[in-house]
Amino acid sequence: MLKIIRKFAKTALPKKQVYKIKRRIEEKRFHDYLQQHLDLNYRQADPGLVPPRELIAQTAALNEEELERQCNGDVYFETGYLEVLRIFKILNHFGINLRTIGSIYELGCGTARLLRHFRVIEGVRLVGSDVNGEMVEWCQKNLTGMEFYHNNLTPPLTFAEDNCFDLMIASSVFTHIPLETQELWLAEMQRILQPGGIFICSVLGQFHVSALLSPEETKSLQTSGSYTLTSNDSQATYSTRIGGSAWDVFQTRAEIIKVFGSYFQIVDYIPGVQDFLVLRKNDPSFLEVNNTPFPSQKY
Ligand SMILES: C[S@@+](CC[C@H](N)C(=O)[O-])C[C@H]1O[C@@H](n2cnc3c(N)ncnc32)[C@H](O)[C@@H]1O
Repeated sequence: MLKIIRKFAKTALPKKQVYKIKRRIEEKRFHDYLQQHLDLNYRQADPGLVPPRELIAQTAALNEEELERQCNGDVYFETGYLEVLRIFKILNHFGINLRTIGSIYELGCGTARLLRHFRVIEGVRLVGSDVNGEMVEWCQKNLTGMEFYHNNLTPPLTFAEDNCFDLMIASSVFTHIPLETQELWLAEMQRILQPGGIFICSVLGQFHVSALLSPEETKSLQTSGSYTLTSNDSQATYSTRIGGSAWDVFQTRAEIIKVFGSYFQIVDYIPGVQDFLVLRKNDPSFLEVNNTPFPSQKY
């Protein structure tokens, strides 16, 4: 039924109306799932304000063509609900009871497009940080129920003690961290995650290789395991070209597994628009619960 409504809406209605409908559908789907899984630990949280267009543009746009769509407030919320619901489903799939999560940290939270939706978990501590001071300031001024901090381009995260978070996320962030500092960040993330805790982060996979790299660049990536576009490269993502970041970082799956796998146990590598890694900090007392791969994201 939803598919039919979507198809009708796409062809017969103005774009803005379609965005509104799609946001409502994803919002309902998100809240229905969380209400069911959190039960009495669910709370209805205000989604908060849409950030200014300049800030969204620095975090979300692959190219000029999709800029308008990404900067629309309803699309901003639709993608947030979709992505956070996917994270909740991944956690559930790997046997993480959502009701036992007490603290969540997001590295590179940007405008809290994702973090804000975790407020549906009653009493959870939510912490976000970003290297972009303007975004942190906007979050601090406009969003409640979360802590926001500015961090430097290299660790440490001065606000975080050892083993202090149950869950950590970094969506579309290691995709912009230069290779020279990647391992420093992995070590820092390992330091602040509690043993047995889960870290979900994304990396650029086949979708972005096909969209952004030339055949020669793809060859170089395959040969050396990594390839970096800088903000001066015309094929870099729009957000990177306008200064949202200085780098778009590509790594092969094998390289990701080697590097990330030397800091965390790799629970899953899920292909999609961005590939998602499910990482666990080693805990000697932990019993394995589910080895079944989570379904790939279709694109
Ligand atoms: C593509 S945006 C994603 C923002 C947010 N995670 C989301 O999904 O909406 C990348 C974000 O990572 C931030 N970032 C890049 N390198 C960082 C670093 N070393 N530490 C913290 N934030 C970083 C950027 O400032 C930007 O806000």
